[in-house]
Amino acid sequence: MALTIGVPREVFAGEKRVATVPEVVEKLIKLGFRVAVQSGAGDLANFSDETYRTAGAQIKATAAELWAAADIVFKVRGPSVEEVGLMHEGQNLISFIWPAQNPELLQLFAAKKVTVLAIDSLPRTLSRAQKMDALTSQAGVAGYRAVIEAANAFGRFFNGQITAAGKVPPAKVFIAGAGVAGLAAIGTAASLGAIVRANDTRAEVADQVVSLGGEFVKVDYEEEGSGGGGYAKVMSEGFQQAQREMYAKQAKEVDIIITTALIPGRPAPKLITAEMVQSMKAGSVIVDMAAEQGGNCELTEPGQAVVKHGVTIVGYTDLVSRLARQSSTLYSTNLFRLTEELCKTQSEKNDGTIDVNMEDEAIRGLTVVKEGNISWPPPAPKVVAAPAAKPAASAMPVAKKAHGHGAPSEPMAGNKLAIMFGVAAALFWLIGASAPKEFLSHFTVFVLACFVGYMVVWNVKPALHTPLMSVTNAISSIIAIGALVQISPIVGAVDRPDDLIRWVAAAGIVLTSINMFGGFAVTQRMLAMFRK
Ligand code: NAI
Repeated sequence: MALTIGVPREVFAGEKRVATVPEVVEKLIKLGFRVAVQSGAGDLANFSDETYRTAGAQIKATAAELWAAADIVFKVRGPSVEEVGLMHEGQNLISFIWPAQNPELLQLFAAKKVTVLAIDSLPRTLSRAQKMDALTSQAGVAGYRAVIEAANAFGRFFNGQITAAGKVPPAKVFIAGAGVAGLAAIGTAASLGAIVRANDTRAEVADQVVSLGGEFVKVDYEEEGSGGGGYAKVMSEGFQQAQREMYAKQAKEVDIIITTALIPGRPAPKLITAEMVQSMKAGSVIVDMAAEQGGNCELTEPGQAVVKHGVTIVGYTDLVSRLARQSSTLYSTNLFRLTEELCKTQSEKNDGTIDVNMEDEAIRGLTVVKEGNISWPPPAPKVVAAPAAKPAASAMPVAKKAHGHGAPSEPMAGNKLAIMFGVAAALFWLIGASAPKEFLSHFTVFVLACFVGYMVVWNVKPALHTPLMSVTNAISSIIAIGALVQISPIVGAVDRPDDLIRWVAAAGIVLTSINMFGGFAVTQRMLAMFRK
């Protein structure tokens, strides 16, 4: 029987988001579910009860009615103790939970014999997980909003202008920390016309900063800043000293600083000192996105915008809620994609039922309580250990950024490779002993090309898959030319290729054309994403 998805009104003070928007209600109904929404759930994100009703949802007057009717509850913030009280055995909940910080909440769920999927526990290293990655979608909104808040508090244009009334220089923006929120802030500030600079302890983000229109400012100190899994590590005192000097120089030069630096599970690193604030020009702005974790700036007051030494310091902790319609839309799309994954193992027809399949790595990672049994933390993900020490000339890729930038590629295990080599060598010996000489030379080139191609492609970082696609496009065109030569004999040639070769060549042309035109279409779509 079709299950009912329930969307209650958020109860956390100041939370304006709603877990499902009307557009997504329609999609959930198409998947076969029924949807119930608590009256007023979308009000603060500008979605009225009427729009939900039109989309096909049932409106429930109270929270008690909503929780009683729902088989699956979609929420933004983890439930309050009162809300847990409204849960019933067998119910499913999908929400932000932060299980490491809320062990007592897990105990309450267990006592209620419910199943809970914590959207914040998604294994982000799986490329399949990107579409469900609510942390990324919400941090992106926050980074955008941080720039808008800065623009609001800043008394000048962002872009440079030459008008009859005078010349206005472009604003200079410095972004500390180029993770998800930082990169969104760089893109937004650059699109408003500011000169954008950014710094991060992980040097591998430099290319991403540049591709979004920023300039990466390096700390003059050699130290690897990646702590693995896409997160930073605590840096040495020597590095921190050099970083402070660089930040002090930037503080004097720039008009706006947006700080997003964070190492998970640690208090925010103090990067902007009181002296640096004092050295900034009057009217400058600091937006401290890490305010909730103690702030990256010494003078930040969490939740407030204050003026100190003539500098406005914005420490809002609700940046995502300040763009509630947008963040709700993205969040509910993340939940919809997760729902699709939960339906995957069901019958082909959309019958509105789910299966919390613990064999699926993504779903296993998300599930913190399954039918009353606490299943958090999940087993360690299957990742390849990073090399102990990275030799200077090593060609091996380093640990990759987890935030929605794709999955790490796993090089093949040594013994598996050895077996493959053994089998291949035996095959070559057989072919070499029996095949004609002419065939052998082509065959050797073919095998070597396959081997080199495999090694190269396997080690390409996910961030470089688009340029890789362009290269494979070019290779496809070489294949197409080769096949065309085979299909139509060279003018003046006496021999006509036999029919089998022509058919193989025709198949080659069809397949390589799919790769070529598909590649162009995808590249076109990717480029369109960067165009205004
Ligand atoms: P993230 O982990 O993707 O990015 C943090 C970045 O800081 C990483 O790239 C890391 O390498 C860098 N970093 C760490 N230590 C550093 C140092 N000492 N110097 C320079 N860079 C350093 O995190 P995300 O998702 O981008 O979030 C950033 C911050 O924004 C977090 O503090 C998060 O809690 C906060 N946030 C605030 C919101 C608000 O409403 N105020 C909303 C959403 C996020």
